[in-house]
Amino acid sequence: MTERIAVVTGAASGIGMAIVEALQVQEGWEIVAVDIDERWASQRSNRSDAPNRYMCDVSSESSVISLRDHLATNYGRLDLLINNAGVVLAKPLSDTTYEDYRHTVDVNLGGCFLMTREMLTLLEAADNPVIVNIASVSGHVGQVDHAVYGASKAAVIAFTKAVAWELAPRGVRVLSVSPGSVETPMLIADITDEAKRRGLSVEYVRSEREREQALGRWATPEEVARVVVFLGSEQASFMTGADVLVDGGWVAR
Ligand SMILES: NC(=O)c1ccc[n+]([C@@H]2O[C@H](COP(=O)([O-])OP(=O)(O)OC[C@H]3O[C@@H](n4cnc5c(N)ncnc54)[C@H](O)[C@@H]3O)[C@@H](O)[C@H]2O)c1
Repeated sequence: MTERIAVVTGAASGIGMAIVEALQVQEGWEIVAVDIDERWASQRSNRSDAPNRYMCDVSSESSVISLRDHLATNYGRLDLLINNAGVVLAKPLSDTTYEDYRHTVDVNLGGCFLMTREMLTLLEAADNPVIVNIASVSGHVGQVDHAVYGASKAAVIAFTKAVAWELAPRGVRVLSVSPGSVETPMLIADITDEAKRRGLSVEYVRSEREREQALGRWATPEEVARVVVFLGSEQASFMTGADVLVDGGWVAR
């Protein structure tokens, strides 16, 4: 086998886009970038190493099955699955609708479940396959107005641990990464909403959120991507079932 095949979900933006770029600078990866964003999917790149773009809603069983069939036909195996696609939900509980709750859990946890279940046969056809799920510090600490989001991410961490044990005998390593605050469109939207709700400036909320990290700043998407790529490599061959915090010290408080 020469090229290794990677699938990155939520690849149109933020951390997912940085993961794709971090894999591109390494030799030997064939990358399938997956997202639900139609505008992104229809864009064409001039780069010779541009990843193949595939439209898929990770919360839809039929959409994930179509992706699996596409990968089976075109590649026949999968070396690295990065379940990064996610949505944030930042609302007081009393304003949270049942639809908000369902959507958040369906994408954040349901996406990991469907992608893992459907890609399993392809992963088992690879040498040393790895799954990396993107969780969050919100799955570790109580974050005001993020109850459902945090619960969905704690569930991703629990899912990762159980699947790591289930798949270890089948040669698949399974890990999660919990970022702190990362400068992406998701976080900017999150603090903009919070500033509106609290009648504060976005700058003020941003400085509060920066201080949640011992390092006093937000991560760049690239700082998270580097850890994800490490976990997916043979450098991390004795790691499975772990949740790796990339949180600037937040949870160490
Ligand atoms: N930004 C942060 O501070 C932060 C912190 C901790 C964890 N995370 C997690 O990191 C991951 C990436 O977040 P980000 O900050 O890069 O967000 P982002 O909003 O910039 O990117 C998320 C991408 O996921 C895609 N997506 C959403 N729903 C999808 C679906 N159903 N199917 C396929 N794709 C879908 C979006 O179109 C988007 O391109 C998420 O799981 C998020 O919860 C982010």
